[in-house]
Amino acid sequence: MDKLVVNHSMNLKGEIRVSGAKNAALPIVCASLLTADELVLTNVPQLKDIYTLEKLLGGMGVQVNFKNDVMKFNASNVTNLVAPYELVKTMRASVLVLGPLVARFGYAEVSLPGGCAIGARPVDQHIKGLEAMGAEISIDHGYIKAKATRLKGAHIIMDMVTVTGTENLLMAAVLAEGKTILENSAREPEVTDLAHCLNKMGAKISGIGTDTLVIEGVDFLHGATHDIVADRIEAGTFAIAAAITQGDLTLTRARPDTMGAIIEKLQKAGAVITEGSDYLRVVMNSRPKAVDLTTLPYPAFPTDMQAQFMTRNCVADGVARMKETIFENRYMHVPELCRMGANIDVDGNIALVHGVEQLYGAEVMATDLRASASLVLAGMYAEGQTTVDRIYHLDRGYEHIEDKLNNVGANIIRIKG
Ligand code: EPZ
Repeated sequence: MDKLVVNHSMNLKGEIRVSGAKNAALPIVCASLLTADELVLTNVPQLKDIYTLEKLLGGMGVQVNFKNDVMKFNASNVTNLVAPYELVKTMRASVLVLGPLVARFGYAEVSLPGGCAIGARPVDQHIKGLEAMGAEISIDHGYIKAKATRLKGAHIIMDMVTVTGTENLLMAAVLAEGKTILENSAREPEVTDLAHCLNKMGAKISGIGTDTLVIEGVDFLHGATHDIVADRIEAGTFAIAAAITQGDLTLTRARPDTMGAIIEKLQKAGAVITEGSDYLRVVMNSRPKAVDLTTLPYPAFPTDMQAQFMTRNCVADGVARMKETIFENRYMHVPELCRMGANIDVDGNIALVHGVEQLYGAEVMATDLRASASLVLAGMYAEGQTTVDRIYHLDRGYEHIEDKLNNVGANIIRIKG
């Protein structure tokens, strides 16, 4: 397993190009199953999760060509409607093939995605919505088996805001017969990007960006070309890198209009932020202030930025109260940060972060994707050297993170495992 050796790196300065959003690319790649025409995606990040999906779709008979940041799909000859456990267990978002397969082929066998480090992560809403559209669903030996002659439009009220739940049902509804209303839909920019791509393919979706999506089913979708939206979480992670190292970073190919809550919290911490339509400049000249936050569905502060923001609060002036409301076990970075000298008290889903002046390099272990990022951030601030182990978690969601950070003055070395 690869490791990252992170040396003390302060005052990062320069430009970082933000990649396409992992959490937009994953559902949109699955949308390739909805048409027999060619789907072309640009600004696709070269991430482990994307390669996993490429392998999954290839196994179904989809022709996939992935070169640089361009992915081309041809699903005119899908021969296998099964998403096997050995792939789904490595990447939960594989469950996003469920809606497209049932919608276009009337059948799907998808391994139930197990839980993961951050929580149980059930998919009951995905199943409830498909059943409302007329699919017959059974759970058999760990697989979701779904069949339908043709899905029918339905009025679905989601029990909670679920990003991939909304995405799966949206992709199912676009080929269903009649109208579907998805109430209490997720409004994350990645859901919006999927909806825009589907409409380019001939879908009839309205209410995009709101919590109520209305879909008029059509008989088929045609090909399209779509540019994946910038990754607001990657951009937010680098913005924290600027704040914690008292640096000056300009993030290009970003979408500040999707980062409102992140920007607002960084400004409260003392960062000076200037933004344009496709860039964000973050300057921090002093020790950051402690900032309270609660994670909630978009447009509120995103759970995927909680660990990174906690690292910033660890070295801030004051005490910050942080509340994680989306996942039940998303504080696994806390013990690792404490080993570096952080002072954090966790009680249930509340973390009280008592800011300290100094962190100290240590050997730490990545436990999940965003926790890994928080440890790299802490390592740059810490005195001495930090070794982050199990960085396969990191490679799932960040494209060449050490190269991007080293280009602006960090000192991070990858040790091949
Ligand atoms: C998506 O996960 C993202 N992944 C996650 O990003 C992100 O943290 C999460 O949304 C929340 O924003 C992708 O988009 C691939 P949810 P998802 O369904 O869709 C509960 C990262 O770091 N729930 O919105 O799986 C669930 O347990 C990853 O990039 C049900 O109970 O999350 C959770 O408590 C981590 N039943 C809450 O809803 C369901 O059927 C929100 O989960 C579905 C969800």
